[in-house]
This record gives sequence, C-alpha cells and structure tokens, in this order.
Amino acid sequence: MNGRPVSEVLRTGVCYYPEHWPESRWADDAAHMKRLGLSLVRVGEFAWSRLESPDGQLHLDWLERAIDTLHEHGLQVVLGTPTATPPAWLCARHPGMFAIDEHGRERGFGSRRHYCFSYAPYHEECRRIVTALAERFGDHPGIVAWQTDNEYGCHDTVLSYSAAATEAFRAWCRRRHNGVEGLNTAWGNVFWSMEYTDFDQIGAPTGAVTETNPAHRLAWWRFSSDQVVAFDRLQVDIIRAHAPGRDVLHNFMGNFVEFDHHAVSRHLDVATWDNYPLGFLTRDGTDPALQARYLRTGLPDGSAFHHDLYRGCCAGRFWVMEQQPGPVNWAPYNPAPLDGMARLWGWEAFAHGAEVTSYFRWRQAPFAQEQMHTGLLLSNGDEDQAAGEVAILNAEIAALAAAQPDIDLTTVPAGIAIVFDYAGDRLQRIQQPDGRTFDPLDFVQRVHACLRALGADVDIVAADAPLAGYRLVLVSNATISDPALAARLAGSDAHIVLFPRTGSRTAEAAIPDELPPGALQRLIDVRVVRSESLPPGERLEAEAAIGSGPGGVPMIVESWRERIRSPIAPRALFADGWGFHYTCGRIHYINAIPTDGSLERLLEEIVNEAGFVTRMLPIGVRLRRRGNLSFAFNHGPEPCVLDHTTGCPAGTPLLIGERRLAPAGVAAWRTGA
Ligand code: GAL
Repeated sequence: MNGRPVSEVLRTGVCYYPEHWPESRWADDAAHMKRLGLSLVRVGEFAWSRLESPDGQLHLDWLERAIDTLHEHGLQVVLGTPTATPPAWLCARHPGMFAIDEHGRERGFGSRRHYCFSYAPYHEECRRIVTALAERFGDHPGIVAWQTDNEYGCHDTVLSYSAAATEAFRAWCRRRHNGVEGLNTAWGNVFWSMEYTDFDQIGAPTGAVTETNPAHRLAWWRFSSDQVVAFDRLQVDIIRAHAPGRDVLHNFMGNFVEFDHHAVSRHLDVATWDNYPLGFLTRDGTDPALQARYLRTGLPDGSAFHHDLYRGCCAGRFWVMEQQPGPVNWAPYNPAPLDGMARLWGWEAFAHGAEVTSYFRWRQAPFAQEQMHTGLLLSNGDEDQAAGEVAILNAEIAALAAAQPDIDLTTVPAGIAIVFDYAGDRLQRIQQPDGRTFDPLDFVQRVHACLRALGADVDIVAADAPLAGYRLVLVSNATISDPALAARLAGSDAHIVLFPRTGSRTAEAAIPDELPPGALQRLIDVRVVRSESLPPGERLEAEAAIGSGPGGVPMIVESWRERIRSPIAPRALFADGWGFHYTCGRIHYINAIPTDGSLERLLEEIVNEAGFVTRMLPIGVRLRRRGNLSFAFNHGPEPCVLDHTTGCPAGTPLLIGERRLAPAGVAAWRTGA
C-alpha cells in the first residue's frame, strides 16, 4: 500500500477497440467509462491492419487520437503490441511464417495467432512494428503499461512443427548437449537404435510409427517454451528502451500449461491473466455434477487458483486483464452468469492481491467472430448487466476508501505454499499411458481447492522460489528430481507433503539412479519400486492402522498408485499388502491419488498438524485475507449466514456486503489492527 489511497490500489479497467467504432463515439465512450468508475483501458492489441499498410506506411495518428481522448478523460492506457494478428499482406510476404500442426497442416490466415514462434523473419516484422509503436508512444503521459502480443499459446499455438522450428530445435539441442553423443546418452537413444550421428538428423517428435522418446518430447516442449520466452523478450527489450517507467506485461490464460509461465514472467513487471470462469467450467471437462451446481458462478476455486498462481509469477504483482462480463462465445455452452458475478469476480481478484481487474470488453461487437460475446455495453451502446455491477464495485471501493482511510491492503505471503512446475506438469502428461484418469493440473487444483475449503489462504510458487516462512509446503508436479528443491525443502521448518511422481524423473526424463522420488529421498526414506495407473472407476481402499490414519477411516484412491520400499511403517494398508502414506516427522509421502473425500480428510489432518485452524465453510463459500481485510464469497446456489464458522463472529461490522451472503454475495470485514 505504501500509504496510497485504496482507490489507487484497487483499479478496474476495460478492453476497448477504438478501431471498431466511429471516431465520433470515442469521447462519449471515454466519458461513459469514467462514469462507471473505470481507471484503465487496454487498446491496440489486434489493430495491425489499421496501423500499417503494405507500402510500409505507418498510420499511428488515429491511435494517438484515441489514446489522447482516453487520457483527456482521466483514463490510463495499456497499449498492446499487435503481433498476435499479422495482417494478410504481411503473411503473403512471408509464406513460411505460419505454424504447422503435428499432422503437417498449415495454420493459415483468417483468424489470429497464425505465426510460428521460430520463423525468424517474423521476429524482424515484430521488431519493426513494436519499435515504431514504442518510439511514437513510449513517453505518452497517458500510457501506464504495455502488453506484449496477446495470450501466447491460445488456440493451441505454442507447438509448431514447421521447418523453421525443426531447424531452431537442432540449434537448441546443439547448445544444450555436448555433441550428438552427449544428446544420445542423455536421451537414452541406444534404445531402439535411435542414436543420431549428426544433429541435422533430429526432427520434431511427431510422425513416428509409435510413441517417440519421452526425452525427445520433453526437449521439444522445453525448446518451444524457450521460443515463447525469446519472442516475448524481443518485444520487452524494445519497449523498455523507449518507455521507461511503464509496466510491461503479458496476458496469460487460465488452465493453461503449454509453456513455462514462470520463465516468461522473469522479464515482465506484472503477470496478468484472462479470467473466463464459466467458459473454463464447461470447456475443461469439469465433473457434470459440479458443472450443474456452479453453471452460473464458476467453480469456487477456479479463479482463485489462477490468482494464486499468477501472484507467484512477478513477485506478487498481478492483474486480471480480461474478466468475463456475461456469456462468452467459445465454450461448448455459454450460460449467463448469475447477476452479481461480475462484481464478485472483481472483488475476488482484489482479495487475492490483484492491482487491476479489467473487463473484456467495452462493447459487444456486432460483426465477426465474437458477436455472441457480451461486453459491458450491448452492441448498440446501451449498458448490459455487467456495466451496472462494475459501477457498484467501483462505488464500493470508493466508499471503502472514504470510510477506512487507514486500511492496509498489503498482500502478505500465505502460510501454505504449493510448488508448481510447468516442465514437471508436461513430463507427467508425456509419460502417461492414459490421460483419461489423471490430469496433473487438475490434481494441483484439487489440492488447492481442498485447502481453500478448509478456510486457508494459499500461495502457488515456482520450484525455485524461496520457501522460508511457509509452515506447510505441498509438491505434486515437481516431477523432475531437483537437488536444489530438495535442499530448500530440507532446510525449511515447514510440514511437507510430497504427492506421487514428485522427483520421479531426471531432467532428461529418465528414472533417477536412486529410484523415485530421486533427490527428495533426502527428506524421507522411501523408494518407489512399482507404479500403476488405474482405469476410470477403479478405486482401492487403504485401511488405516489403528490410531494412525486420518480418523481411522479407510482412504480411497484412484488413477495412480505406487508401491513403496521403506523402513518406515505405512499409515494404512491396501488389501494386497501395498502401504499407503509414509511419514517421517513433518514430511509426508502420499503414494497414491486420493479421491476428493479422502484428499479432504488427509489434508485436514496435515493442515491441523502444521498448526493452522481449519474451518467448516458452507459448501461453495470461500474466504480470503488481504492486509487487514477479510473477504467471504458465495459461489454456491444456497444463501448462508456469516458467523464464527466463517471467521466473522456476530457483532463484527461489515465494510462490504451483508451478513446473509446470498448466491454471488461478497462480504468484507476488518481483521487485526
Ligand atoms: C481471450 C482473448 C480475447 C477474446 C476473449 C473472448 O482469449 O484474449 O481477445 O477473444 O478471449 O473471451
């Protein structure tokens, strides 16, 4: 906070496309945005065809007039670089620039993101347009931040199997390995006579008769992720040279692990992400019963998971760059949010530490692909539902600022951390006989959701993040055996939970010499001697040894189970004699995937053991603390009443909302000093 007023700490914004509307509307739009209490406006990220013509002429005056108009109305501008949408004339000039899918098909012009990250001449085109924008607008007083490109990876666009990518991959392999023999050894290419005698023989891991080498696929993923980092870095360096003091950011996506977001974030100021809770709910294979229950509100932890993840990317600085305002157009079903959700999603982001919640988009487009996507305004310019809710949100922020000038909204580390590793997630996907029963991202989300259902605040941190100060650390997708992580975990005082497959492979996707969990064996003396995956519906029960398992109730597991060799007696036993749950002091190794109910019981016991007070929250209600404000959110379809079980004992004055928390309800009260 640093003494800044609340209204400067919690800001709302909107995504605006001045090129879609007559210039005569811009001033009215800006005035209207101001009336709703908005502070920021993102523009420009898809406007390339209006910024430059084939003869190389730049047309930046209209953009300057648009930015000026917004600025004159007291709005701050985020300028996007337009590189996600190279125009037709530019593509015609570079027939080799399109990404190629794994079946060899070109992903051509006609929508967006139709470029291959490895096509070097496209980098030059990007350098040119970004430099032109940065030179012209770098010191514009209305611009507070720059967004690079738009949603790297959206529409499955990270992996491209083009000739340019293959060429760049060979160079990447050369840099990483000590000669081609080094690569052969690292990947185990003696298997099936896959040894290369020249780097130029290495192709993309596609088109083979059967499964390609997991080391090859992991390398291809890492290379592709590095290509995204380099592409972004190119733009960031140009912007920084011309726009000192402005934040540089990118808008990441939800439920998305196709490249290493921690690596891209290292050179950004702010990690922003695009939050479409109802789109994710129906698109991403959520359990049908949960879909039905949360159809109009989104999963109670869906947004929270990403807030916590992206807060861990740029040293705590994160925004929501695009917030769903109403029905979207791209999921299998696009229900309308419950009235109140546009406000709830804004407060929820702020409760998790967001600096900005920006809604997508200002006005519904009456033409082209997103006609079915709502905005704050209808296509005719009248207000839609979300406009009123954003106005309420902003009025509440203003009232809070006036009533509580000394409120502290500093985000402090939570006591609990989940270690999140993108390469580890990828490796679990690569070496998975059947993706139907287990999804590593889904499992981390289940762990996060269980902790939050107990009332906890959770940080999600990279595998190389400092762990000092945490009292509980959980690790599930740090698949790669990492002595540095093992040392940091061993050096912390936290209770530690290691889930199946942690430390189970080397950096080159091989089984570690000491067997899984590799370097993590320095924490607990267990060795995985067998692992099995289970078909959908197959469940196994582990009976707790008397007085040891959580509440003495059998634990039910599914999807994946490991057989452990260890001097430690397991806390429970399966009927076939395999053990379950090994503990050594404050370290737990959980060697199978518990079902939801079992996971909840297991984590409740461990969270209590780590010294946290757990709560029995009403189903669908979640809490979150920021500074000395506590928030409650009701994602469920039933109303509830806030009381001591939700940490808000009778008599506590509410600063936002009411004690009867209706569906889509938000409440906040002061805690601490
Ligand atoms: C995002 C994208 C926006 C818009 C939006 C629609 O993925 O960044 O440009 O397409 O989805 O929900």
